[in-house]
Amino acid sequence: MTDHVTLTHAGKSYRLPLVIGSQGELAIFANTGSCKSAITFLDGEKGILRYRGIPVEQLAERSTFKETAYLLINGELPTQKALTRFSVLLNDHSLVHEDMKIFYQSFPRSSHPMGILSAMVNALRSFYPELQRLEEEIDITVTRLLSKVRTMAAMSYKISRGHTVVYPRPDLTYCANFLNMMFDSPVRPYEIDADVVKALNVFLILHADHEQNCSTAAVRVVGSARVNLYAAISAGIAALWGPLHGGANQAVIETLDAIARHGNLRELVARARDRSDPFRLPGFGHRIYRTYDPRARIMKRMAHVLLEKLAISDPLLDVARELEEIALKDDYFIDHHLYPNVDFYSGIVLRAIGIPTNMFTVMFAIGRLPGWIAQWKESMEDPEWRLCRPRQLYTGPQERPYIPIEERS
Ligand code: ACO
Repeated sequence: MTDHVTLTHAGKSYRLPLVIGSQGELAIFANTGSCKSAITFLDGEKGILRYRGIPVEQLAERSTFKETAYLLINGELPTQKALTRFSVLLNDHSLVHEDMKIFYQSFPRSSHPMGILSAMVNALRSFYPELQRLEEEIDITVTRLLSKVRTMAAMSYKISRGHTVVYPRPDLTYCANFLNMMFDSPVRPYEIDADVVKALNVFLILHADHEQNCSTAAVRVVGSARVNLYAAISAGIAALWGPLHGGANQAVIETLDAIARHGNLRELVARARDRSDPFRLPGFGHRIYRTYDPRARIMKRMAHVLLEKLAISDPLLDVARELEEIALKDDYFIDHHLYPNVDFYSGIVLRAIGIPTNMFTVMFAIGRLPGWIAQWKESMEDPEWRLCRPRQLYTGPQERPYIPIEERS
């Protein structure tokens, strides 16, 4: 049973649904903030995204992923001295315990890298027991995770292909190091291209945080039980895997690829419009944005620039552009405020870099890691933080007696 109540504040009235449960209990359903946070500001009506107050556009243009990670986690851009210390820590903690390789080899070849990554991050706790004094040693736990997840992601790719694992190099920057671990081989040394490194930096910056999204909420909820950081991040990775969340970047490329092969573009848009069909166009729509996702705008531009610089012609970019054009003129998409989200063009960028499709969501996870860590740290340091324990509205049966099995009809 749904009724409404009116809340008046500062001369404005808000009509909120009042829902009554089967036991007569009341609940007002509205968009409530799940926490207070000083990390990321997001305005879905105007398409604004800022990390610690700095517009994401400026960070994408001028910062690096490493610096942005520092900003999110520590609240301020680093001084040169702080950045150097951060780099040294990232380098010192970039190796992964050799015994962890055995785990990798035990997963079936067909395993999805996100499932492997979530399990392996959880396993880190056994190899690297958490440090106790939060204040003094948090830097080590945090940089250890940032650095090792990058190594572990590249390792999973190499092992899945049956190739030799490439170790991190101290002379390379965060992103160049990752690319080298992914693509260097004893028979074909990898040549690091500055444009590819820049593109990867931008990709990761655009994914670095997005306030209380599904995976971040998972990290906060699980972390609120005061579990170790690794377990909380492992929960975030599992949530991100879903096709409605980070898994959409893989789904987008699979959809674009199917269109390129079968030419069923308009048919797909028609399916997305059809209420009786559960199909949703991946890479379109967002819970918060009612306008163009600012990250998608940057990603789209970068896809063009990168492909041009690398002299790559990707037919999927043409399909994506055509699909966007049709969708943005379509009444259904206009009425529902459905615009491309960050995942729509990101796969084109990742393909140009050489990342295989099943690793796309892992790339998202590497990018989101500083955001998850920052949100976890903020919650751990909040003096008002309590165990997260949402309530519900009970809609089940009234009290009734137990009936022995022989008397049940
Ligand atoms: N294609 C077709 N219709 C859509 C789409 C879509 N991609 N997205 C939303 N709609 C429709 C819904 O069917 C619904 O229509 P109705 O009101 O006529 O029934 C309406 O728009 C509102 O949809 P909701 O489900 O209320 O929106 P919600 O905020 O729950 O969904 C979500 C957000 C999950 C992102 C959705 O837009 C979606 O499924 N998109 C495709 C998957 C995707 O790209 N996910 C990545 C999101 S960004 C990220 O997580 C990094």
